[in-house]
Amino acid sequence: MFGWTVLISIIAIVVPVVHQVFLAPIIRAAGLSYTVQNYGLNAEKCEKFEELKGCEKIVLHQATGVLYLACSTPENRLKWFPPAGSYETPVGEDYIATFDPRTSKITRLKLENFQLNGTVHGLDVVPSEKNPNELFVYLVNHRTRQDGLDPATVGADSVIQIFKTVVGGSTLSHITTFQDSAIIGPNDVTGFSDGKRFYFTNFVNKKTGFAHQLRAMFTTFSSVGYCHSDHGCKIVVPELFGANGITKASNGTIYVATTNGMELKMYEKQEDASLISLESIRYTTPIDNLVLDKEGALWSAGFPKYMEIYNHIKDSSQPSSVCAWKLTMNTGEGSFYGERYKVQKVLENNGTIGSGSTTVVRDTERGLLFMHGLVAPYLTVCRDVEL
Ligand SMILES: *[C@@H]1O[C@H](CO)[C@@H](O)[C@H](O)[C@H]1NC(C)=O
Ligand SMILES: *[C@@H]1O[C@H](CO)[C@@H](O)[C@H](O)[C@H]1NC(C)=O
Ligand SMILES: *[C@@H]1O[C@H](CO)[C@@H](O)[C@H](O)[C@H]1NC(C)=O
Repeated sequence: MFGWTVLISIIAIVVPVVHQVFLAPIIRAAGLSYTVQNYGLNAEKCEKFEELKGCEKIVLHQATGVLYLACSTPENRLKWFPPAGSYETPVGEDYIATFDPRTSKITRLKLENFQLNGTVHGLDVVPSEKNPNELFVYLVNHRTRQDGLDPATVGADSVIQIFKTVVGGSTLSHITTFQDSAIIGPNDVTGFSDGKRFYFTNFVNKKTGFAHQLRAMFTTFSSVGYCHSDHGCKIVVPELFGANGITKASNGTIYVATTNGMELKMYEKQEDASLISLESIRYTTPIDNLVLDKEGALWSAGFPKYMEIYNHIKDSSQPSSVCAWKLTMNTGEGSFYGERYKVQKVLENNGTIGSGSTTVVRDTERGLLFMHGLVAPYLTVCRDVEL
């Protein structure tokens, strides 16, 4: 979602020359010639909740089926979303909400003794290892600068916040703020059950500067970092091609979506928190946030026509097609021949059921599927889903 005007100009100029050599994969990703199919979802079984807008990330609390969402408004994203180069003044206050699909009740969580500044981005919600009734909430927060410097020149004051809440609660209490030179252009976060540690992605390795957004588009200009309350932060994977969604399995496998690289990266967490690369899986669309379902399948939101997101961010009523990828272990015949994983694009929609989705969440236990997005105008809730 970065620098599309620039990208379009570049494509227009250099395509005839270097199409075969260099740009072909990016053009395929842009989906210029792709016709979106509508499959996987039944419009009659899907509902839209317009009260929730611009929720970049959804996290499911599996035990209760309640969703946690990091939300904003399309207007606020336009004025203040540093990752996409919007550096005006925030309008309105972002928030974390819960949504209970049994009652359709939406609750904006109230912050105790704390004010959220700027805009919200990636999110994780993790039951405490000491008491599963307590939840740690990890949040990527692009704050405005308090020092008076121009954010368009020096970048936003991006941090990662940790809050605490209880299951079914309507308040968040702030625990701590991580501000660190390793937290550069944070995008998503995956937290641990002790409320003290997390991995996060930097979509860019410099806040601002020369050809900043083009570098993110075409080169390995992003990273994965790790923070611990007692030991500070460090970069653990320095060079990735557009690192975006991040999540982890209970066995220590860390998954990272590289949006512009169109790859899923898998890592094994070591004792010292460093990550050892396991393998990479190619997708045929750019991918965004990652979520593991209860059965261990990894879901990613995808962009079948990446270019559409550009118009959608400027005007969120412009539909932007969505798709969802499901990654499972391959138990079929192919597994004998080295294909360990099965990657399926299980749903695709032209922006009428879900639009501009950056997060797709599946509740296998309750037959539900949820979608929302960075500037999406509503939450999509689909029932009786079998995917
Ligand atoms: C954030 O901080 C800035 C600078 O102190 C302030 O002007 C603004 O009102 C605060 N709130 C929000 C929601 O951004
Ligand atoms: C770790 O868990 C994930 C998700 O359940 C699974 O796909 C993966 O194979 C597991 N890895 C190992 C090394 O067991
Ligand atoms: C999306 O597909 C539906 C069903 O085929 C169609 O009715 C609708 O006009 C399409 N919308 C757009 C924006 O392409």
